[in-house]
Amino acid sequence: MPLVSMNYFLPFAKRKGFAVGQFNMNNLEYVQAITDAGIEENSPFIFGASEGAIKYMGLENVVALAKVAAEKSKLPIALHLDHGSSFEMVMKCIRAGFTSVMFDGSHYPLEENIRLTKKVVEAAHAVGVSVEGELGTIGGVEDDINVSQEDANIANPKDAIYFWQETKVDALALAVGTAHGMYKGEPNIRYHVIEEVSKNIDVPIVLHGGSGIKDEAILKAISLGVGKINVNTENQVASTKVVRKLLEENPKMYDPRKYLGPAREAIKEVVKEKMRLFKSSGKVFYLREALDKEKV
Ligand code: 13P
Repeated sequence: MPLVSMNYFLPFAKRKGFAVGQFNMNNLEYVQAITDAGIEENSPFIFGASEGAIKYMGLENVVALAKVAAEKSKLPIALHLDHGSSFEMVMKCIRAGFTSVMFDGSHYPLEENIRLTKKVVEAAHAVGVSVEGELGTIGGVEDDINVSQEDANIANPKDAIYFWQETKVDALALAVGTAHGMYKGEPNIRYHVIEEVSKNIDVPIVLHGGSGIKDEAILKAISLGVGKINVNTENQVASTKVVRKLLEENPKMYDPRKYLGPAREAIKEVVKEKMRLFKSSGKVFYLREALDKEKV
């Protein structure tokens, strides 16, 4: 099947209490591992492509790989721009074949974030592409974005509800205490923010920095209205650990397939675990039935 917008599954995720994982692609092996995990778990998922990953892999390669994955797996897969920084970048991705985009205007004052996000929503919705917006400032490091703990700002629930009413984004990323990258201690997740905002908007909350969070915390966040969870670092750590060990143990190894193949397996196992934890496993059939019923 062709790539789908996040609206294929996110409204159901919120209604039925599960979350769809966004797994970031970094190279071909990530695309294969994430797709195989989706097939084995019969789970919808989102390929996240950051601007850094697009620069590294090439925009056309990113789109071609995601399209092939969706066609061959027959799973509902969205190809989503992660932390899009400008209207131009968003349009470039939509034109190339992305089915979903994030516009991250969180570093702008509220009204400016609303104005810019609205412009993206108008253009994206006109061609059936879903949009994620962001409020508050999520800490940690992702590509060129580096936000220190002091600069990380928890989203204000009133602002978040107002932001959604004004922009009508399809998913709302909120800074609630998680961070991109590895955690030093345990993150202090502000569940009350998730709860209050979710009760007052129609779309799911997005949890960024989904790596290294305890299972109970993830389940609680989902029960309160998180419907999309982003994971990248855990896949990177798991796959790099395998490569490091193999190269250390086999200093004469030079065929990339010999170390990237096992690294791919490690990513697949992490993604499968997340799909089960997020309760998106086994939901493909349910989604098809639910959508068919809606069409009648
Ligand atoms: P982690 O790398 O911490 O899993 O976060 C991923 C993310 O939020 C991508 O936007």
